[in-house]
Amino acid sequence: MLNFDFYNPTHIIFGKDRLQSIDMHVPADATVLITYGGGSAKKSGLIDKVKTALGNRKVYEFGGIEPNPRYETLVKAVEIVRSENIDFLLAVGGGSVIDGTKFISLAFCYEGDSRDLLKYGLAPIPFEVAGKTVPFGTVLTLPATGSEMNNGASISYKQGKYPVMSMLNYPKFSILDPTLTFTLPKIQVANGVVDAFVHTTEQYLTFPVNGMVQDRMAEGILQTLIEIGETTVAEPENYDVRANHVWSATLALNGLIGAGVPQDWATHMIGNELTVLFGIDHAQTVAIVLPSLLEVRREQKRTKLLQYAERVWHIESGSEEEKIDLAIQKTREFFESLGIKTHLSQYGVEADKIPVVIEQLKAHGITALSETGDITLDISQKILENAM
Ligand code: NZQ
Ligand code: ZN
Repeated sequence: MLNFDFYNPTHIIFGKDRLQSIDMHVPADATVLITYGGGSAKKSGLIDKVKTALGNRKVYEFGGIEPNPRYETLVKAVEIVRSENIDFLLAVGGGSVIDGTKFISLAFCYEGDSRDLLKYGLAPIPFEVAGKTVPFGTVLTLPATGSEMNNGASISYKQGKYPVMSMLNYPKFSILDPTLTFTLPKIQVANGVVDAFVHTTEQYLTFPVNGMVQDRMAEGILQTLIEIGETTVAEPENYDVRANHVWSATLALNGLIGAGVPQDWATHMIGNELTVLFGIDHAQTVAIVLPSLLEVRREQKRTKLLQYAERVWHIESGSEEEKIDLAIQKTREFFESLGIKTHLSQYGVEADKIPVVIEQLKAHGITALSETGDITLDISQKILENAM
């Protein structure tokens, strides 16, 4: 097992009817900015319930944080934090609203041009650059990203989508009430299953380091998602199934399964360019890239792919090649069974656009991906060609 630090201070408040806990976790004298997205939380009445839970605190609202939250939108919220002396942020929404709120929190305390915060990639922003944040909590409405219990965000600016990581950027608390996700459109539920699945494979399908407990936890999450995937999409109000979906998604990216093991993230980094260029939903981009990447990287990932085939998909017979082939095929079929297409061409993107994606990767300096940094632009190109 590799050396690791594990730190996660987020207080999880899980289950039905937990909104009243907000009162306990937000300082009584706080001036609060509620942040939300395009209106689903308003329409469902959730924002009103959150305001009721905040009682007599002074509350402001900032709506309109879009999917793949944009820097240009978020800096408007920073203005409100400044002008109204906000000292607590409360994100009500999915990964985009939570990520956006993390950025608002960092940017408010940053003295220079807050675009600087987009430059650090997957490395945490050093404390001497950003040593303070505005505290925030979250009310999660979409199980997918794990943003409710991690310190990462993904922020869009011009023609880029930038990871922003900071050790100071964990939510103080997150309310995970599965019933708040019942209003999701089916496609977003399916996206959520796929995103959580791929977060797990990014930290599991690498090379073995004898992280036995991490492997078993990752396999548990993958098997749970496989078991509940179709039902959580088909039966939106099935509480038990949705509860397992929510908790799987949180555990997939709260740092636990990734501690002490190699991590890949090439699927995500290539996928991000597909969102930026073609507007494909985040989870759909990773559904396109992952099966193809596993195919192209089968030698580097051979041992873990065989373990995945045997332990996750229970493939017992056949040669090593056949087991790997079948595991990749089953992964693709699983995504498709949820209604998520896995070929780039099915999203109206033809092979002649691949050079544009490669140019974008190059422009963003994404030229050494994977758990060993050996995915060059040529290999990314091969992965995209194979994803057609
Ligand atoms: O904006 P509203 O009107 O609220 O509608 C949203 C949005 O259109 C809707 N929605 C959310 N909860 C709902 C609901 N509709 C009805 N009922 C509800 N309960 O769903 C749509 C998508 O929301 P979004 O927040 O964009 O989805 P998701 O949670 O999948 O987040 C995706 C974003 O997270 C980033 C992605 O890159 C993308 O920008 N990620 C963040 C990560 C992290 N912080 O750790 C890791 C991920 O890999 C990912 O990169
Ligand atoms: Zn993701």
